[in-house]
Amino acid sequence: MKLGLNGKNVIITGGSAGIGYACAKGLISEGANLIIVGRDKEKLGNASTSLKEIAQGNQIFTISQDLTDSIAAERIAKKAILKLGKIDILINNAGSARAGSFWKLTDQHFIDAWNLKLLGYIRMIKEVGSHMKDQGHGRILNIIGTGGKTPSPTFLPGGTANAALLNFTKGISNELAESGIRINSISPGVTATDRAEHLAKQKAEVKGITFEEQIEIDTASNPLGRMVEPEEIASMALLLVSDLISSITGADIVIDNGKQPGF
Ligand SMILES: NC(=O)c1ccc[n+]([C@@H]2O[C@H](COP(=O)([O-])OP(=O)(O)OC[C@H]3O[C@@H](n4cnc5c(N)ncnc54)[C@H](OP(=O)(O)O)[C@@H]3O)[C@@H](O)[C@H]2O)c1
Repeated sequence: MKLGLNGKNVIITGGSAGIGYACAKGLISEGANLIIVGRDKEKLGNASTSLKEIAQGNQIFTISQDLTDSIAAERIAKKAILKLGKIDILINNAGSARAGSFWKLTDQHFIDAWNLKLLGYIRMIKEVGSHMKDQGHGRILNIIGTGGKTPSPTFLPGGTANAALLNFTKGISNELAESGIRINSISPGVTATDRAEHLAKQKAEVKGITFEEQIEIDTASNPLGRMVEPEEIASMALLLVSDLISSITGADIVIDNGKQPGF
């Protein structure tokens, strides 16, 4: 398949690890120019060095910003446009939420999850989307999560952020379409990243079981009996931000080994 991503300019939040890094690798191999965003400068530097090894003249820049800061999105958009001139694609991916028993979670756990993932994605869409509106085209992809449609009692801060993001993605898609901008989302199930390990440890603690037992539950409880690999999410991400299926917008694609019980 020819994805036509050569020379496209892309911002990936959380591009230094996990799913975001897998998307970065895929896009670099396709000849895109990248801005990867994260907080930890060393992690960003290491990711950038590895990505440069597979680049073929395409550019990679890093921006260190904490997306819980309400003006981070504005700073990222300004810097990105300064470095690359225009932005064709935005992948919103930086997110993390505390798992745990509802009775032990505080308001702050919910506020932190909503501030980083829900408001972080919305702020990036406002800043980068207004630039895309002016140029009359753009592609946005939100990495959400199956907890948005299939809630779990031990993942409520993240699940509620994801549910709101599904609503937002569909809600804004018609308006963005008027400006030639498509927006879609991917909802991964448990995916083999550092974050999945942290979550498994937190869930194991709530249930009083070992980390290994929680991983066994996570994998055995889905029909295909395995974890999703970050590269699988990246393959779908590349397809959705390409123009290969240019009639898809406002859609959510679930990649979860068949675990989600309904639509
Ligand atoms: N893995 C799963 O099982 C799974 C399942 C469903 C949905 N998801 C979603 O997929 C997305 C990626 O998850 P992942 O598993 O790939 O996570 P990960 O391996 O922990 O990577 C997270 C990335 O986001 C960056 N990041 C975290 N907090 C940030 C902040 N406040 N500001 C800026 N950057 C930040 C991290 O870099 P720094 O730490 O340096 O900031 C890193 O680059 C998340 O939105 C997550 O909710 C994951």
